[in-house]
Amino acid sequence: MTMLEIIEKKKFGQELTKEEITFFANAAAEKTVPDYQLSALLMAIRLNGMTDRETTDLTLAMRDSGDIADLSAIPGIKVDKHSTGGVGDTTTLVLAPLVAACGAPVAKMSGRGLGHTGGTLDKLESIPGLNITLSVEDFIRQVKEIGVAVVGQTGRLAPADKTLYSLRDVTSTVDSLPLIVSSILSKKLAAGSDAIVLDVKTGSGAIMHTLEDSLKLAENMVRVGVLAGKPIVALVSGMDQPLGTHVGNALEVKEAIDILAGRRAGGDLLEVSLTLGGFMLHLAGKAETPEAGQQMMKQAIDSGAGLEKLKQMIAAQGGDPSVCDDVTRLPQAKVVRPVFCGVSGWVTKMDTMALGLAAQAMGAGRMKVDDELDYSVGFVLQVRIGDRVEADTPLCVLHARSEADADRAEAAVRAAVTIGQEPCGRVSDFFAVVTKDGVRRLGADS
Ligand code: URA
Ligand code: CA
Repeated sequence: MTMLEIIEKKKFGQELTKEEITFFANAAAEKTVPDYQLSALLMAIRLNGMTDRETTDLTLAMRDSGDIADLSAIPGIKVDKHSTGGVGDTTTLVLAPLVAACGAPVAKMSGRGLGHTGGTLDKLESIPGLNITLSVEDFIRQVKEIGVAVVGQTGRLAPADKTLYSLRDVTSTVDSLPLIVSSILSKKLAAGSDAIVLDVKTGSGAIMHTLEDSLKLAENMVRVGVLAGKPIVALVSGMDQPLGTHVGNALEVKEAIDILAGRRAGGDLLEVSLTLGGFMLHLAGKAETPEAGQQMMKQAIDSGAGLEKLKQMIAAQGGDPSVCDDVTRLPQAKVVRPVFCGVSGWVTKMDTMALGLAAQAMGAGRMKVDDELDYSVGFVLQVRIGDRVEADTPLCVLHARSEADADRAEAAVRAAVTIGQEPCGRVSDFFAVVTKDGVRRLGADS
C-alpha cells in the first residue's frame, strides 16, 4: 500500500478501506510520509467526503495513533465536555468548579485559542502563577484530592491530529465534516473519560455557520461516539453573538468569578453553563435528570461552594486564589475606554467572528504560533441582539494596550455590531439536543 494509491482512490471519490485509513493516520502521527502527500489526501477528503464508516475508522485510527489516558484511578464516572469553539465562551471555567462541587469528578484537558476563538488554557494562564502543565500522576492526584483539574494535554494523545490539524489550518481544509469529527472525537476518546457532553456551536462565530451543518456535525459526532462505546450527548447552541459579555483572557476569568460569586442574576453564559453541566451531572449519575443537575449547580452558586472549588483548583495548580475575592488582582489593561452606540435603533446582528478577531488583534490571541499574549486586553460588550439602544447607550468597554490599539478595536467592534431601525427579537441559546435516540429540536429561547 502506498500513499499515492490512497490519494488516487479518494481523488476519484472511492471509499477507502480501514487498512488504508489506518495507514494514513499512522503516517500522520509518525510523519513517515511528506506533508504534501498528507495535504493532498486532506483536500481529496474535503472535496469528496467520507462515508460514515470511513469517518468512524479515521476517528478510531487517530485515537489509537498515540496514548489513551487511563483515569481509572479516579473513583466515579468521569464526564468530559467539549465545545467546537466560540467567542466569549467561558463555560469550562463556570461549570468545572460547579460540577465538581456537586460531587462529579472533573478531569479536563483543554486547549489554547485557535484563530478567532479563545482557549481555556490561555484564560487560566492569566491567573498569576497558575500552571497548566501537570504530569499524569499530579493530574490524577489533584482530581482525587479536590475533585477538579483543568490542564493541557498530558502524554501523547492523538498525535495524528496534531499533524493533520496544523496542515488543515494552512491548506483550507478545516471545514470538512469528516475531518472535524475525527479531529475532535479522536482527542476526546483518547482523553480517557467515561462519557462526553459536546457543545456544538452554530452561527456567525462558529466553525459551522448554518444550523443544518451544525446539526449534521452533532449527529455525526454522537454516532461515532456511540460506535466507540461512549455515552455521549451533543447540544447545538448559538454563537450568533459572543456567549458571555466579556471577551479576552483575564476579562473572561473575571466574568466566570462574577458568576460563581452570584453577582450575575442570569445571562446566556450562565444558562449554557448550567445546561451543559446539568447533562454532565446526569451522565455522572449524580442527578436524576439534567434539570435536577442544573438545580444542584444553582445551589452551589448560592452556597459559595462553586467559587470555593475554583479557589481550591487555582491554589492546587500554583495560582493566586485571592483573585476570586478581588478580581482587580487579575492583569489590568493600561487603557480602559467606553464606546457608545452613536445612533439609536435596535441591535440586530453581530459578526461574532469579527469580534473574536478584534480581540485577537488587541493581543488576546495569537496571530503567529509563537506570539506572546497580553492577558489584560479585550472588551466587555454592553448590548445583546434585540436590545433597544440610544446614541448615548454604552456599546462596550475596551481594555487595550495603547490608545492606538483602542482606536483600532473601536472601529472593529463598531463594524461588527449592526444597529438597525427595525425592532428585532432575541436569538435562541439552544437549537437541539442530539442523543443516540435522535435529534430533539428546541423551540423558542430557553
Ligand atoms: N476543533 C478541533 O479540535 N478540531 C477541528 O477540526 C475543529 C475544531
Ligand atoms: Ca437566553
